[in-house]
Amino acid sequence: MKFFVDTADVDAIRELADLGMADGVTTNPSLILKSGRDILEVTREIAEMISGPVSAEVVALEADAMIAEGRKLAKIAPNIAVKVPLTWDGLKTCRVLSDEGTMVNVTLCFSANQALLAAKAGATFISPFIGRLDDMNLDGMDLIRDIREIYDNYNFKTEILAASIRTVNHVTQCALTGADVMTAPSNVIKALASHPLTDKGLEQFMKDWAKTGQKIL
Ligand code: G3P
Repeated sequence: MKFFVDTADVDAIRELADLGMADGVTTNPSLILKSGRDILEVTREIAEMISGPVSAEVVALEADAMIAEGRKLAKIAPNIAVKVPLTWDGLKTCRVLSDEGTMVNVTLCFSANQALLAAKAGATFISPFIGRLDDMNLDGMDLIRDIREIYDNYNFKTEILAASIRTVNHVTQCALTGADVMTAPSNVIKALASHPLTDKGLEQFMKDWAKTGQKIL
């Protein structure tokens, strides 16, 4: 499963990229706001730092304007994936940009039928939002399972990019379910390394090592 970092914070991206933990990046208007940066400038900086796909989202709501915005974003770098919302206009935009050879990430997906439409419109990625379904007392992972089955039934090439990932358990479940990609904030990715038994074991090793009176360096 590929790891994308869900942020426009270049320092957080760099730290994970240096470790080989950032196969791509996803941004959205809320994350651009949080970064305090200009969308074109920060997207260019991220796309230079990361060789994998970097999603940049359009903000127009009508297809012609979305297509124009998408073309402008796509010009930033060859690894830009234009992100469009799962609306009818977003699907029209997806078809046009995909036919032009641009990667498209269709976002704000909350149903299997929406994912089916995105695949038929030629999407490179479909982004089902797990955490936001969980917020409604639904099981977001059910949606990942349904999309996986549908895409496999018909051999759709669209990659399932599990988004709105908020916990380490979400990451495990995505990997077990066969999501192609998961995108999470850097704190969730870093939390994957933590386990209380690791901390406890390390503490004991350090105590015992101190008693040996030895040094390695
Ligand atoms: O990738 C989508 C993500 O940014 C949304 O996450 O936590 O706001 O639902 P969240």
